[in-house]
Amino acid sequence: MPDTKPVQYRIVDRSGASNGDERARVVEALLATPARIEPKYFYDELGCALYGAICRLPEYYPTRTEVALFREHRSDIADAVGRGRQFVDLGAGDCCKAEAWLPFMSPARYIAVDIAGPEIERALARMAPDFPEVEMIGVVADFSAGLPIDDLLDARGVTFFYPGSSIGNFMPADAIAFLKTVRVQCSRRAGSGLLIGVDGKKAKSVLDAAYDDALGVTAAFNRNALLHLNTKYGFDFDLDGFAHRGFYNDREGRVEMHLEALRAQTVNLGGRSRAFTAGERIHTENSYKYRPDEFARLLRDAGFTSVRNWSSPDGGYFVFYAA
Ligand code: AVJ
Repeated sequence: MPDTKPVQYRIVDRSGASNGDERARVVEALLATPARIEPKYFYDELGCALYGAICRLPEYYPTRTEVALFREHRSDIADAVGRGRQFVDLGAGDCCKAEAWLPFMSPARYIAVDIAGPEIERALARMAPDFPEVEMIGVVADFSAGLPIDDLLDARGVTFFYPGSSIGNFMPADAIAFLKTVRVQCSRRAGSGLLIGVDGKKAKSVLDAAYDDALGVTAAFNRNALLHLNTKYGFDFDLDGFAHRGFYNDREGRVEMHLEALRAQTVNLGGRSRAFTAGERIHTENSYKYRPDEFARLLRDAGFTSVRNWSSPDGGYFVFYAA
């Protein structure tokens, strides 16, 4: 008989924690001018797969740049973070980025937080057998409104891991507010800190290509938000009626993604309807880019007092450890 030791992981669903009437908020944002869809609606099963494909595109540099940066500075960063902490992975996705760190940080507990339940469940089922000494918890949650994990943490130090430059999805003021909630958790436990990836400001041509690739994968990722909402809430967006726009807005220091109505059309939102004029846009994402001094300032504004960073060779991507 093989040794059938049960695999040690569990999934906690906190997706309803902050939502209230999620559907009503989606409708309200679509009825607004300009219309909006929150970026979290990219990440249904198909959207997660498309995001995985984006990360392999020649034009989309952030993922491979960050992976290389982590690999290059592995032991230096691991020394800064320390061992035996509780490791909280924010926007864990397929958990591959965290997985590479586990042998170097030997956390006591690994908490993968993500909006995409099936994605983290698959990832933990895959990883748990390789790390039997690590307690593994998946938390299905939208943490943009707060971190619903207080009850899952004990008194040991916590490493918050926020890779991929996803912090760029927040408006700068909201980013500070979010970093403050992380900082409060850190201040309660000695040995805590935040390890975070940040994409830098760079040539518009590079950013435009990264968010509007030749193959059209980012276009499919963006337009899939409509398919996702059609399925989830019974809306009747015509996918042929909307085109992807993704470009760097120099003045705001951010990439913007929009879905642009190709002709005048009316969309049924289940009870309400929304008329779009030709050329009217739905704003689906901001991805803020920061100079290292700008981001260091954000971390200090959030209350972190010790801030270190590592840079990619071309100076276009940064990893910060803040405590
Ligand atoms: C997952 C938020 C880091 O902003 O670069 C990729 C999402 N959007 N291509 C990013 C995204 C379009 C990505 N983040």
